[in-house]
Amino acid sequence: MSTKQESLQHIAVIMDGNGRWAQKRGLPRAAGHRKGAETVKEIAKAANERGVRFLTLYAFSTENWQRPKDEVKTLMDLLRQYLKSDLAELHKHGIRIRFIGERYMLDKDIVESMEQLERNTADNKGMTLILAISYGGRQEIVAATKRVAEMVKKGDVAEDDIDAKLLSQLLYTKDIPDPDILIRTSGEQRISNYLLWQLAYAELFFSKTLWPDFTPEELDTIIENFYSRERRYGKV
Ligand code: FPP
Repeated sequence: MSTKQESLQHIAVIMDGNGRWAQKRGLPRAAGHRKGAETVKEIAKAANERGVRFLTLYAFSTENWQRPKDEVKTLMDLLRQYLKSDLAELHKHGIRIRFIGERYMLDKDIVESMEQLERNTADNKGMTLILAISYGGRQEIVAATKRVAEMVKKGDVAEDDIDAKLLSQLLYTKDIPDPDILIRTSGEQRISNYLLWQLAYAELFFSKTLWPDFTPEELDTIIENFYSRERRYGKV
């Protein structure tokens, strides 16, 4: 394997456009989320087959709690169902499943299913699929900062020893390499509080495709394009 190929380990995605996909068809937004959930499965399998090591998908942001109650319920019910059936199917493909985000905000049965899936798939040897649920990048950084403050207060860490490595170790993603690629679908060009710390050197790809229509072929095009870009990490 060439060095360039080894350099692609982690793809992060903001799955946007479910609502517009449904609207265009005169369907309720829930139909867009359901189709979007099918795309999750298809893209996870495709990324795994292509040797991607980590795929992180933004399924529900801390801001999404402010959507109308009905829609939050739809998304949570979909997640419930997904945790029980669809993700179990990914387990058969050797995919490890993990979750990042504020679990205390979620219903207890959902958290239990999440923990069970993490345990059941922990020894799988394929790609790690990370679902960001009730996740916010700023909240993650604030929580890490509070922990640093506690460590300093207790005398476990000296102020001079606070560095990026220490902060990285206090994030949900402490044992996961930073994303090499960020994809956002649906034509929006924003980061929306996603993996703010971890995306520092990611290559950004904005696709006009609505998430439910996103295909493995488009993923391939993005991966090819990634290999043609030169990453300098601020150096010349
Ligand atoms: C953005 O589309 C998408 C979301 C807020 C949720 C993403 C959820 C899924 C893909 C399905 C659920 C996933 C799992 C793993 C169960 P939007 O609703 O903001 O679309 P819009 O901008 O067109 O309204």
